[in-house]
Amino acid sequence: MKFFADTAEIADIQELAATGLLDGVTTNPSLIAKSGRDFKEVTREICALTTGPVSAEVVALDHATMMKEAEILRKIADNVCIKVPLTIDGLKTCKALTSDGTMVNVTLCFSAAQALLAAKAGATFVSPFVGRHDDNGFDGMQLISDIRLIYDNYGYETEILVASVRHGIHVLEAAKIGADVMTAPPSVIKGLFKHILTEKGIEGFLADWAKTGQSI
Ligand code: E4P
Repeated sequence: MKFFADTAEIADIQELAATGLLDGVTTNPSLIAKSGRDFKEVTREICALTTGPVSAEVVALDHATMMKEAEILRKIADNVCIKVPLTIDGLKTCKALTSDGTMVNVTLCFSAAQALLAAKAGATFVSPFVGRHDDNGFDGMQLISDIRLIYDNYGYETEILVASVRHGIHVLEAAKIGADVMTAPPSVIKGLFKHILTEKGIEGFLADWAKTGQSI
């Protein structure tokens, strides 16, 4: 499963990229606003930190303006993936862009039927939001299972990008279901490295090593 960082914070992306485990980045208008940076400048910097896809989102609601915005976004770097909302205009834009070889991430997916439409529109990625789904009394991971089943039934190549990830269990369940990608805030990704027994084990080994008086 590929790991994307869901952030526009350069320092966090640099830290994760240094682990060699980062496969891409997703941003959205809220994350750009939170960074307080110029969107072109920060997107360009992010694109230089990974060879993987960097999702940059359109903000228009109509197809014609989405296409104009996509043109501006894709000129930022070769690895920009245009993010469009799951609406009729968003999927028209998806179809036009992917037919032209541009990567597209269809975002704000909350049902398996919507994911089916995204695949039919040729999306490179579909982003079901599991955390927001859970928050509203639905079962986010069941949504991922349903999409996996439908995509496998028909051999759709659209990658399931599990988004709105809140904790390690979401990551684990996504991997068990066979999602292609998950995108999570850096704090969630860093949390995956931790285990109390790993920490205790290191502590014990180092205490015993100190008793030997040796150094490597
Ligand atoms: C996906 O690409 C979105 O940026 C993101 O996962 C949204 O997550 P949130 O529900 O934590 O805002």
